[in-house]
Amino acid sequence: MAEKKIIAVVGATGAQGGGLVRAIMSDKGSRFTARALTRDVDSDKAKALAALGAEVVTADVDDAESLKRAFAGAYGAFCVTFFWAHFSPEKELTQARAMAQAAKHAGLQHVIWSTLEDTRKWVPLSDSRMPTLMDKYKVPHFDAKGEADQVFSEVGVPATFLLTSFYWDNLIHFGMGPKKGPDGKLAITLPMGDKKLPGIAAEDIGKCAYGIFKKGRELIGKTVGIAGEHLTGAQMAAALSKALGQEVRYNDVEPEVYRSFDFPGAEDLGNMFQFKRDFERDYCGARDLKFARALNPELQTFDQWLAQYKGRIPLE
Ligand SMILES: NC(=O)c1ccc[n+]([C@@H]2O[C@H](COP(=O)([O-])OP(=O)(O)OC[C@H]3O[C@@H](n4cnc5c(N)ncnc54)[C@H](OP(=O)(O)O)[C@@H]3O)[C@@H](O)[C@H]2O)c1
Repeated sequence: MAEKKIIAVVGATGAQGGGLVRAIMSDKGSRFTARALTRDVDSDKAKALAALGAEVVTADVDDAESLKRAFAGAYGAFCVTFFWAHFSPEKELTQARAMAQAAKHAGLQHVIWSTLEDTRKWVPLSDSRMPTLMDKYKVPHFDAKGEADQVFSEVGVPATFLLTSFYWDNLIHFGMGPKKGPDGKLAITLPMGDKKLPGIAAEDIGKCAYGIFKKGRELIGKTVGIAGEHLTGAQMAAALSKALGQEVRYNDVEPEVYRSFDFPGAEDLGNMFQFKRDFERDYCGARDLKFARALNPELQTFDQWLAQYKGRIPLE
């Protein structure tokens, strides 16, 4: 049997990378195998990936040499950065450059860069519809990822630019689940008006990425977007009500109200939702559901995701 092609996976113990490692390793006849990058090969999550048969190696995206070692001998790599670990778009750019250079150094044949839109192409800094944040960004955790697309191109890496979507898992892990209002009724709060929010089961991102690698060279140099469904806040609330067996309302607030909430990153997320709301056609248009399903036939709908995870959504 031909030797399997190695995909080096950054963020392998996390949501996106973890989904990719599991997708590769659960496909027994695959022509690929996964090399999972982690800062701690002894963690429970790293051991769980090793138990699936993945090679687990130490690497840190802040350590360029460790990336070169981890990418050496691989066919491809999945590259992602971790904005919420540090809240620094500059750091994301530096890490993206380090990954691109390591990929070039290793002569990788296919890299997937997990990216998002540089919203400044739609809302320049001079546009006062939303505040400029950190001096030169509108949506810091989007803009630097989009800016880094150019870095992969400049460095000369054969890359596919993967536009991801809002994880429905944010309802569990990111404090975005239904909360009780003063009236005692549960509600989800999103500043989306009546516009649609593309969402996805986090696990499906890795499965779609695997579908991209399986296509060989076809998607190199292309930007592709994925989502499980495009749903309005009202549709999400209705699906939550059905799944949870109790009423969940949609609390539609203005983006400026969302920006004023008292949690780290509220301004960034307020701008993000405003961007998605005001440019719905472009944002949804870039995330084709049929294409995502073709990459990953197991792609979940929101109802399917809820059926699996509703018990883990904290109801505060
Ligand atoms: N939440 C959303 O709706 C959403 C939607 C689209 C895009 N995103 C983007 O997704 C990105 C995060 O991806 P994710 O959700 O897959 O991450 P995650 O689940 O938070 O996992 C992060 C993993 O990355 C690893 N990691 C953290 N710092 C590292 C470093 N310096 N070097 C190497 N590995 C490091 C950690 O692994 P070890 O501890 O094992 O090293 C951790 O398990 C963010 O940039 C965010 O903007 C999020």
